[in-house]
Amino acid sequence: MALTRTTGVLFAVLTAILILAGWWKLGIPPNATAEAQSTGSGHKSVASTSPTGDRLIEHHAQEMIERGRQTFRYDTFGSEAFWGDKLQLHKAIAGEKHGGVGGGVSPKTALAVGLKVDADAVPDAVKQQIKDGKVNLDDPATTLALLKLDAVLGVKGFFDDQGGLKSIGLECAFCHSTVDDSFSPGIGKRLDGWANRDLNVGAIVSLAPNLKPFTDPLGVDTVTLKKALAGWGPGRFDAVVNQDGKAFRPDGKQAGTLIPPAFGLAGVNLHTWTGFGSVPYWNAYVGVMDMHGSGTFFDARLKDKTQYPVAARTGAYNTRGMPDRITSKLADLHVYQLAIPAPTPPAGSFDKDASARGKNVFEAKAKCATCHVPPLYTEPGNNLHTPAEVGVDAFQADRSPTHMYRTAPLAGLWSHQKGGFYHDGRFATLRDVIDHYNDLLKLALTDREKADLSEYLKSL
Ligand code: HEC
Ligand code: HEC
Repeated sequence: MALTRTTGVLFAVLTAILILAGWWKLGIPPNATAEAQSTGSGHKSVASTSPTGDRLIEHHAQEMIERGRQTFRYDTFGSEAFWGDKLQLHKAIAGEKHGGVGGGVSPKTALAVGLKVDADAVPDAVKQQIKDGKVNLDDPATTLALLKLDAVLGVKGFFDDQGGLKSIGLECAFCHSTVDDSFSPGIGKRLDGWANRDLNVGAIVSLAPNLKPFTDPLGVDTVTLKKALAGWGPGRFDAVVNQDGKAFRPDGKQAGTLIPPAFGLAGVNLHTWTGFGSVPYWNAYVGVMDMHGSGTFFDARLKDKTQYPVAARTGAYNTRGMPDRITSKLADLHVYQLAIPAPTPPAGSFDKDASARGKNVFEAKAKCATCHVPPLYTEPGNNLHTPAEVGVDAFQADRSPTHMYRTAPLAGLWSHQKGGFYHDGRFATLRDVIDHYNDLLKLALTDREKADLSEYLKSL
């Protein structure tokens, strides 16, 4: 009897130690678990005894979102080895007076090429000085100060002991974030996941003193490269040219695609305009291929010599960058992007009555909802279509292993109207898109129905 009691006490003590150890490991304060236990609605919480309870999952999700946000905003994946060390882009930003080359990039120039400033990273005193006109926005030194504050979205400066800019790396936020302009145009609170359609990536890259890391693998001269970069214009980038070497369309037009948003993507099967793959597929691709971070990327589809002559030659389809600074971050980055909701349109930005009528047109007469299935506004399943089905040429589709276009998810469409619609922005306005479908699908929409449909698209 006595023995059993001692064993019982020992067992209780051991259990308590194990539970405490569990709390410590999970980083959950003991009272949080106790709270969870006492607030259940009839269901007994098992979180205090089992690390597989609901709390564990919530905690895990929260941690993934937090880490994913850090990665999305602040991780360069070691890309400074490319943009800074190789291309010397930081020298063009600093300018001759600050140890670089040329005139340098002033905050005014930076804002003019679409770079955005995180107002929360700028101390209040400095913000006041900017308001009072006491900060020289024409001086590259001010740009360097902003970089030191980590205030330029998507661009990280690396400084030496003397405070000189020694390198520069890029982050996801460079293309997929903007600000709410609450301080002034281009300066405000971060809006993660929004497409930066002001950003002139081509103009920024052209500034680099050494473009050989681009021209050599592509086998083109600097003049041709600069012409291609200048062709993109604001809000566009060519994520595939370094695999297929197609810097221009056969008709001589630019070959970049619009920067899409990285919000509202949960539930969507294939990603990118041409459905290359899932979010983590594409994040690995972009991190390694386009940002030139150090990491692993593998896709045997890009070994095809005809479709991807450059990737097949350079072996880029099977990249094993060391150290791998990307793979361990893909899961968190994935969860973070899936957690970003598509933003709702501001009040008064569309006509409510017209939009309600437009919803009906979208779902019935115009048959839009057969492909853009609400509420995902893309197909559950294999969400791809041939170029002919959407009435556009195959150039961009044929640069993808799918040879198709992905049904674009439309939630938050209102936030990325700048630069036009469809993968390359070929339709300037929503009305142009609607007219295109009207002709292609012989919808016989009236002017009123077209106008209503347009208001509905702005409401998504
Ligand atoms: C230089 C600009 C640039 C940078 C930096 C960049 N992207 Fe992109 N991103 C693009 C462009 C352009 C596309 C469209 C590519 C296509 O369809 O061919 C795209 C596509 C995407 C998509 C697909 C969206 C959809 O609608 O399916 C996601 C998700 C995404 N990027 C996330 C990221 C993440 C995460 C990072 C950082 C690891 C990143 N991007 C870095 C320009 C960029
Ligand atoms: C056959 C399937 C299909 C039907 C039907 C369809 N769409 Fe689309 N939609 C697509 C695809 C695929 C794309 C992407 C085209 C591209 O990237 O070039 C797209 C793109 C769009 C875009 C551009 C989104 C962006 O981010 O630029 C809009 C807007 C749009 N569709 C609205 C409509 C409307 C309105 C209708 C009905 C009149 C409609 N769609 C009918 C498949 C379809």
